[in-house]
Amino acid sequence: MAVLNLFSRFAVVLCLVMAARVCHAAGNGVQVMKHLKRFNKPSVKSIKSPDGDIIDCVPISNQAAFDHPSLKNHQIQMKPNFHPEGMNYESMKVSSEKHESITQLWHLNGNCAKGTIPVRRTKKEDILRASSINKYGKKTSQSIVAHPSSVGLDLINQNGHQHAIAYVEGEFYGAKATMNVWDPKIQQSNEFSLSQIWLLGGSFASDLNSIEVGWQVSPDLYGDNNTRFFTYWTSDAYQATGCYNLLCSGFIQINNEIALGASISPISKYHGSQYDISILVWKDPEQGNWWMQFGNGKVLGYWPGSLFSYLSGSATMVQWGGEVVNSASDGQHTTTQMGSGHFPEEGFGKSSYFRNVQLVDGSNSLRVPKNIETFTEEPNCYDVQTGKNDAWGSYIFYGGPGRNPNCQ
Ligand SMILES: *[C@@H]1O[C@H](CO)[C@@H](O)[C@H](O)[C@H]1NC(C)=O
Repeated sequence: MAVLNLFSRFAVVLCLVMAARVCHAAGNGVQVMKHLKRFNKPSVKSIKSPDGDIIDCVPISNQAAFDHPSLKNHQIQMKPNFHPEGMNYESMKVSSEKHESITQLWHLNGNCAKGTIPVRRTKKEDILRASSINKYGKKTSQSIVAHPSSVGLDLINQNGHQHAIAYVEGEFYGAKATMNVWDPKIQQSNEFSLSQIWLLGGSFASDLNSIEVGWQVSPDLYGDNNTRFFTYWTSDAYQATGCYNLLCSGFIQINNEIALGASISPISKYHGSQYDISILVWKDPEQGNWWMQFGNGKVLGYWPGSLFSYLSGSATMVQWGGEVVNSASDGQHTTTQMGSGHFPEEGFGKSSYFRNVQLVDGSNSLRVPKNIETFTEEPNCYDVQTGKNDAWGSYIFYGGPGRNPNCQ
């Protein structure tokens, strides 16, 4: 604190005596330090990951979530009261799947003890890469997902975000899927490619509530092209509330094994070994919290129901699929890939999939979605297909290469 104050005063003095630009830079330096202090809580241990990340083991009760005024006196839930039951396709293994061995890179160099949570440390460079300090860790409001049935051309051109998704509308209390993991190429650092599950509530206007979980490649957010496990939430259509991972107060983590924002390894290879991760998000009907589970039984934590308006009831739409940013910087469609970078027609081992796609219904049971529909803005750039079979239940293939002879 003392150091920070000294710096603040120093910056003020600088501002008085120096040119405006220098003054601005000094002020920014102080802001960056303040933010770093807010993100990076005192830890009991730090682990250096081979990808350059530092993972801090932070005592559960010290996590940033509790900085939120409304969560100051929050009674932390160490386990959900309720876990939805239903179909379990996990037990039906296909020989070419190796989803058991998937992990996070930092595990190679250590682990966090029970009672602590692994937190990816935010570095100065991470904040400086953001277009402004206050935008670090947030999506732009342009990220608003199109309501598939009402999307218009002007909306597409306006925001440059492109989707290839399967979706259902109704009243849902959770969603599940096993997601194939890839490393799509990103044309330029301000674009990204992600694959995720969305749980949405509200109208598709300024009050949209969203919970998102999946993997992403986002050079601006993380400083590299690694595939990372991530979450996002917002209660006002990406405006003032919400963030990625633990970069604002919101998601409360209880698990000591999985770090939000950390790199996933290994990654699927075209025509080679396929790796996938299972995600389940569900609402605790008693407490109203939205829980998230990774893999078979690793309960990561929860979003308190009080963060949301519509989602304090049910989700009204669930989506599974991919999203990329097409900034079309050179006047052509981006070459940023979605999924594996290959179209759904190519099938298993080549195109990226979601399998075991399920919903939690009004009776809190997992079930296969009935009226699943698909949506993509430009099927020649990124496409999506759905199907069903005994081994995979309900499944989706999605993705594409972006720019190609049919997508300019
Ligand atoms: C990410 O990949 C792109 C090519 O797809 C490359 O130009 C860029 O330098 C890479 N960025 C980093 C930070 O490694």
